[in-house]
Amino acid sequence: MIEADLLIHSAAQVVTCASDVPKRGTAMQDVGLISNGAVVVKDGRILTLGPSQSIRQQYSAAQTIDASGKLVCPGFVDPHTHVVFAGDRLGEFEQRIRGATYLEIMAAGGGIVSSMRATRAASVEALVGATLPRLAQMLRLGTTTAEVKTGYGLDLDSELKMLEAIAALDLAQPIDLVPTFMPAHAVPPEFNGRSAAYIEWVINEMIPAAAAWYRNSHFVEKGYPLFCDVFCEQNAFDLDQSRRVLEAGIAHGLPAKIHADEFTSLGGVGLAVELGAVSVDHLDATTPADAARLAQSDVVGIVLPAVNFNLGSHDFADARGLIDAGAVIALSTDINPGSAPCPSQPLVMALATRYQRLLPAEALNAATINAAFGVGLADRVGSLAPGKQADLLLVNATDYRQLAYQFGGNLVDGVVKNGRLLSHSITK
Ligand code: NIG
Ligand code: FE
Repeated sequence: MIEADLLIHSAAQVVTCASDVPKRGTAMQDVGLISNGAVVVKDGRILTLGPSQSIRQQYSAAQTIDASGKLVCPGFVDPHTHVVFAGDRLGEFEQRIRGATYLEIMAAGGGIVSSMRATRAASVEALVGATLPRLAQMLRLGTTTAEVKTGYGLDLDSELKMLEAIAALDLAQPIDLVPTFMPAHAVPPEFNGRSAAYIEWVINEMIPAAAAWYRNSHFVEKGYPLFCDVFCEQNAFDLDQSRRVLEAGIAHGLPAKIHADEFTSLGGVGLAVELGAVSVDHLDATTPADAARLAQSDVVGIVLPAVNFNLGSHDFADARGLIDAGAVIALSTDINPGSAPCPSQPLVMALATRYQRLLPAEALNAATINAAFGVGLADRVGSLAPGKQADLLLVNATDYRQLAYQFGGNLVDGVVKNGRLLSHSITK
């Protein structure tokens, strides 16, 4: 008998979502299903997995979980979030219900800038305190890794304060956080009408300071990147400004991500492909020519249907068409106070199946393995495979399709993070 730390057996289904390369095309329909499956964990990693019967003949463990009637799947990776912020945008929520649009509110000095005001006024401790309950909720809903952006500071001290909060939060709770520096999220009021001057400041002062901060942070030791992101959009930053920000980031060792085609197509997809960005996010207004370019590339296209839902839109990114064209597609909540106050990857999967016509298997791969590629961490999270971090979910379902079929509740019964069971009702 080989001794391990944790043995989960008799699961109605174990779905691995395993793949060494980002999933494209029909590979998205394969979740790596093992019926009556078992997973063995040692030292925080997956030792092996397979059919329960043969695994139980070879392995014993200090802790055993009978997962009869349950599903076991990888913890979700949420590859695009703005989960660190102060204040709320409840007034804007009502304004939108009354008919104002997201871009109108933004042009009138609300939107991101309103969250900026609250975030600038908050201490690191206050930001951490406001964010911990959101992360706890995400964890209960199955997210075990999440990218987190700055972008509500929009001045040097406040952006560095956001990075400090992200680092403190990474150490304070179970979800692994991947930091992204995003000072070019909006033009701050002190640079009103002078976005070019703000971009100079971002390139010459803020990005070098963030790169220096990162070199001294625990993220380096952890082997995590610091990404650089920009909002390429009307009333935010144009294509040339976006290029300059991302090139400066790359020059300082910060791999690129980009918000592109959320409302208007400015050419951000082409820029992402040209610069070898890790991901290009939103893709709502993407042209057929840009979709074809994305499909030819290794850039992960991250779609965020909770945004369209929250903004009351009936138009969603054409994720179906993008998958059929061969693009690598991932799903994310975009959790933020304005366009998507949504902590739930399962709800995002539910939306993607209805409005973007993803099959449940495609949605699950998009929220796990492809999302892990979207944050550059697919070598350690996003699927169940020997050697990978033991981040997995015990789900109250006997068929993985339930995860996208059901919505509004929470089927996640237990979360195993780095091999440790965090909460569970059936352990013995
Ligand atoms: O991804 N588009 C820019 N950033 C966020 C919105 C942030 C906000 O409204 O506060 C997004 O949708
Ligand atoms: Fe965003």
